[in-house]
Amino acid sequence: MTERIIMDVDTGHDDAVAIDMAAGSAAIKIEGIIATAGNTSLDNALANTLNLADALHIDAPVFAGSSGPLLRKQVTAGRIHGENGFSGPVFGKRNKQVQNGNFVEFIIDTVLSNPGEISFVAVGPCTDLAIALKAEPLLASKLKRIVMMGGSSGMGNVTQSAEFNIYADPEAAQIVLHCGAPIYMMGLDCTLQTILDPSIQQRMYAIGGKAIDIFRSSMDFYIRSCLEYIHDYPAMHDPCTIAYLIDPSLFEFTTQAIEVETRGELCYGRTCLMWPDPDSNVHFARKVNAEGFWNTMAQCFQNLKKEIG
Ligand code: RIB
Ligand code: CA
Repeated sequence: MTERIIMDVDTGHDDAVAIDMAAGSAAIKIEGIIATAGNTSLDNALANTLNLADALHIDAPVFAGSSGPLLRKQVTAGRIHGENGFSGPVFGKRNKQVQNGNFVEFIIDTVLSNPGEISFVAVGPCTDLAIALKAEPLLASKLKRIVMMGGSSGMGNVTQSAEFNIYADPEAAQIVLHCGAPIYMMGLDCTLQTILDPSIQQRMYAIGGKAIDIFRSSMDFYIRSCLEYIHDYPAMHDPCTIAYLIDPSLFEFTTQAIEVETRGELCYGRTCLMWPDPDSNVHFARKVNAEGFWNTMAQCFQNLKKEIG
């Protein structure tokens, strides 16, 4: 069964790996990609996404999404992802251009004309999806599900209370978490179980090929910035969403409502997990089978090597 997805990305080093995996998996069809502001500016995220999509021969359209959050003052993550948001790889002249048309209309038209078929994969702030949900009240009921990277049941990563994607647009995250669609949320609890340590780096680099060349040059920068500012190797946050779509059995979830703190000062952007509730539509990832995750990632890169060299 092919998973048909719309990806919403703030490319971003780990966003790029999620795009690699989606492009490299036979189980996934990318219907469209929307670049949004988050790790970096919209212009940078769009250029980074177009460059990567061009290099990976991705046919799907790439749209420009939101240039900033719904309400709060914009925050970015330049320290970690570098000046252009995807420091490391150098791309030549690209053929792929941004898709004309409005990203909100694309989301609504694609989902409503394929009811129950499309999964929305959000690996940056939730601004774009929140806007589409508000623009079309039917959208949530026609989505197959939402698979998002964000949140934490405990410590954050951008403040002690908040994870970056939620912190960058808490109001949007609250809209998404209350839309009623099935939601699979990959928070720090699970994504921090996927640390790209030196042995995994070498395993991936040994695969070779153009996609790995891009991966390696991006990780050279990302590893240095993570070691400097986070004092650890990078976690593969965003790729967890794609690994879930490829093999849901790799992940364990609890089911409960999740609220976002939108009024607090110290806890602004915190995800507050409510008591377990088997009837909730919100599933929060607690565990990932790390060996299976890395095997899945390696397979995607091996497929890309066959497809694009
Ligand atoms: O907290 C991790 C998230 O923030 C990831 O999506 C990463 O790309 C950054 O946007
Ligand atoms: Ca991201």
